[in-house]
Amino acid sequence: MNAEAKTSGKKIAIVTGGGDCPGLNTVIRAIVKAGALRGWESIGIQDGYEGLLDPPQILPLDYRAMDALLYRGGTILGTRNRGRFSAKTGHGEARRVPEEILQETKRNFDALGLSALVCIGGDGSLTIAQQLYEIGIPVVGVPKTIDNDLAATIMTFGFETAVSTAVDALDRLRSTAESHDRVMVLEVMGRYAGWIAGFAGLAGGADVILIPEIPFDYDAIRRKIQAREAMGKEYTLVVVAEGAKPRGGQFVTTGETDGDREARLGGIGHVVAAEIEKRTGKESRCVVLGHLQRGGQPSQWDRQLCTRFGVHAVEMIAAGQFGMMVALTGHGMEPVKLTDAIANIRRVPVDGELVQTARALGVSLGDE
Ligand code: F6P
Repeated sequence: MNAEAKTSGKKIAIVTGGGDCPGLNTVIRAIVKAGALRGWESIGIQDGYEGLLDPPQILPLDYRAMDALLYRGGTILGTRNRGRFSAKTGHGEARRVPEEILQETKRNFDALGLSALVCIGGDGSLTIAQQLYEIGIPVVGVPKTIDNDLAATIMTFGFETAVSTAVDALDRLRSTAESHDRVMVLEVMGRYAGWIAGFAGLAGGADVILIPEIPFDYDAIRRKIQAREAMGKEYTLVVVAEGAKPRGGQFVTTGETDGDREARLGGIGHVVAAEIEKRTGKESRCVVLGHLQRGGQPSQWDRQLCTRFGVHAVEMIAAGQFGMMVALTGHGMEPVKLTDAIANIRRVPVDGELVQTARALGVSLGDE
């Protein structure tokens, strides 16, 4: 194919928004390659949505330079989860991007001669995408977040890689916990939804899984640890989502929110480890996995998911399906309304199959 000879068709722009996530570059690659095969030109918007403001920050995306992006972590476009487009308050509620910012974006979109904007993002970035769509920008969304908490898709990309990283950590923590008869607490990401903690906890054989959806009780955790000891099991593995809270308690944060964004979470693992040590007398340690879950290469699963998302986003542009997000459904890749994707955070159902499976194995959710 001679892509250069066929760039007279559409000109599309790609923007990556919010926190980074393994697989962003894989999606970019798929969009650029599938677009080039249709004779389209692709450009990248740098620095998240900010790159659409004056003067626009553009990165030409040549399909011949896409190969190494298949497995490269991060985003070559840069991203941010704060700034003039911030569509979430410090309390996680949607708010409107200032009208002058939206209109400046539209003017620049038109001046660049663009046919469509592909917004790769999670809840916050897709909330912005919907607002851009409402002012007349043809937008297609791609569901990104390691938290896996977007509605209207079975799975977001980046989640599986994050779970693999967490399971690897649990495997390593098990051997040291076992050697020292310790309680090891692993804190993973997950602000409002405990998908990473739940999936990694099952796959990594955690004895206690604490998720934001189920407020926990320290005495329930103590009882679980002591029940294990009664069975001759002197060590315990606990996985806790950063957004988990004790009954009646609050998020543990590492800094004040500035009102422009959500509070930075972190530290509940240390609180849980200290409380366990106090209540059981057992030596307890905590590891906060943090951004290790977001960095590095996407897993093989995420590579294929990102590739399918990217190609389908191009197909949606070709079909004029704007104001929509590509979603993984029971039928494969399907367009869903952006408004459905951002309507609410998809949380772990407290009496759903994941939780029931854990309970059936004797895993404590910290509540009974
Ligand atoms: O939304 C994804 C996420 O990884 C959350 O789990 C976490 O709370 C947040 O991003 C951390 O963002 P930052 O990198 O800005 O601290």
